[in-house]
Amino acid sequence: MAASWIDIGAAAVLQSGGRLDGEVDGYYVAALLLEGELHAFEDRCTHDGESLTGAEVERDASTPCGVVICPRHGARFCLRTGAALTPPAYEPLTVFAARIREGRVEIGSP
Ligand code: FES
Repeated sequence: MAASWIDIGAAAVLQSGGRLDGEVDGYYVAALLLEGELHAFEDRCTHDGESLTGAEVERDASTPCGVVICPRHGARFCLRTGAALTPPAYEPLTVFAARIREGRVEIGSP
């Protein structure tokens, strides 16, 4: 359970297919919906530290996870656990607890 929750913006942005970005305890965090499931993760690929802005997200039949795909070299990460699923990334992505309350997206402070 998160110690506190940080508001990063209106849920309507996600519900129309967009992404929200915010800063939580020094992490740059991105939040999005995949098939109605809310996900939040650090906006920094563990391969070489680049932003995941523009990354595609999709379902992957090989895992129960939705995945985010780094736009630079194609590493795939599980959106639920952060696990690195394919090279060139080997370290997991940091993922965050997230919730929607009263139309706002809140990220759990780690
Ligand atoms: S920077 Fe993400 S896979 Fe290389």
